[in-house]
Amino acid sequence: MAKIQTRYVCQSCGRAAPRPMGRCPQCGAWNSMVEEIVSPPPSAAHTPARAQAGLSGASRPRKLDEIEGESEARLAVPIGEFARVLGGGIVPGSIVLVGGDPGIGKSTLMLQIALEMASARKVLYVSGEESERQVKMRATRLLQGGALPAGLYLVTETNLETILEHTRALQPELLVVDSIQTVYIPEMDSSAGSVSQVRECSSRLRDLAKASAISVFVIGHVTKEGVIAGPRVLEHIVDTVLYLEGDRFQAYRLLRSVKNRFGATSEVGVFEMREQGMAEVTNPSEAFLAERMINVAGSAIAVTMEGTRPLLVEVQGLTSPTSLGNPRRTPNGIDINRLLLITAVLTRRLGLHLAEQDVFVNVIGGMRITEPAADLAVAAAIASSMKDAPVKADSVLIGEVGLSGELRMVGQMSARLREAAKLGFKQAVVPRRLHRGGEPWPDGLQIIEARSLREALSMALLVEGRA
Ligand SMILES: Nc1ncnc2c1ncn2[C@@H]1O[C@H](COP(=O)(O)OP(=O)(O)OP(=O)(O)O)[C@@H](O)[C@H]1O
Ligand SMILES: [Mg+2]
Repeated sequence: MAKIQTRYVCQSCGRAAPRPMGRCPQCGAWNSMVEEIVSPPPSAAHTPARAQAGLSGASRPRKLDEIEGESEARLAVPIGEFARVLGGGIVPGSIVLVGGDPGIGKSTLMLQIALEMASARKVLYVSGEESERQVKMRATRLLQGGALPAGLYLVTETNLETILEHTRALQPELLVVDSIQTVYIPEMDSSAGSVSQVRECSSRLRDLAKASAISVFVIGHVTKEGVIAGPRVLEHIVDTVLYLEGDRFQAYRLLRSVKNRFGATSEVGVFEMREQGMAEVTNPSEAFLAERMINVAGSAIAVTMEGTRPLLVEVQGLTSPTSLGNPRRTPNGIDINRLLLITAVLTRRLGLHLAEQDVFVNVIGGMRITEPAADLAVAAAIASSMKDAPVKADSVLIGEVGLSGELRMVGQMSARLREAAKLGFKQAVVPRRLHRGGEPWPDGLQIIEARSLREALSMALLVEGRA
């Protein structure tokens, strides 16, 4: 096969070389030389930027109101949680990356989408990782004896050029490539999964999507460091990036959009991994609180915003006398720095003797909370364990904790309170409003405003002899 001309370019200083080198001769960086295709100079009508936007042909400035299309037409997806994360449905001609840790359920989820979509449309599922038999077995398990949809085609192939040929011949509306790390372009020297292969393969898939209005989903593995192979090259090429995350030992899976050219980011879809595949969890707050024990010390309910959706989650805290000189601070589901800050505030501002205690914090359901709005619940869970005094069972706690022990207002308070009221909570401890106005707070919820963490905890914790 005719080789195309490639060169190796250092990703840190830009030095080019004709052959691979372990170390850049110019800047000395190790393993920074990445293979690139040497392309002929672009013509005026087809510069890389135009190709990236899926444009071709001569350009002409036009008035905005002459251009057709007010909103993107979308293909309806029968799985509501998936549609929600995409911003309403699949945009024709878009390319979406589905990333996640090994074994988290990426192939399962995408095969499920393919099966659902294939009842009315043509879908091509390309598997570079599993045999036809394996995929068929999974499909049969997911369908639970239901009929195989007529429109689903399967091919096990890793040569990208062959994949593109199959796609052009079949003309599906949806193409799933599982995974981008297994496909390769034969003319390039580097092996499948290398930065240059991943970049080139995804660019070609993007060009296919833009030119033919086929919607392309590519599955990508996330390495331990949380980077999709190749220093985030993929994320820039695609329109939408979805991450499937969750604790492998727990059933819940969160599908999160971290980039979306057609919808809001940080939107979250919640699924539960079952024998029959990913089941939608349409009321996640209820699911996350299902196993909660009432009136035990060390548990508090936080309300966190995931995209536009408020979620109620249980935060557990445990303090235990340390046997080490340096007590442990072990967070699961929150950031370690947030935990260190909260324990420091509890020690210095509220006089809790946490210096001799190991502190553990756990967010139930495999959730990861990144918002400071959960600070108050984390602080309450720790203080509740330390004092052996439960948090009132029908209360939610919302607010950011500041270094002086003050409670700070957080965004979208009304939405959070509405969700708490909907789930039957009777009381909310929140930061004091300094500016009135804005959206009114919902009825049916007793709202306790507190200026400081100390004040909030004195209202939220049940102490003996006081209800
Ligand atoms: N028969 C089964 N019953 C229930 N769950 C199963 C069954 N087979 C597999 N699973 C679940 O599916 C998960 C694997 O899902 P899947 O292969 O979709 O993950 P993936 O993200 O594509 O993984 P990889 O990165 O290895 O491709 C397993 O961890 C397991 O929990
Ligand atoms: Mg897989």
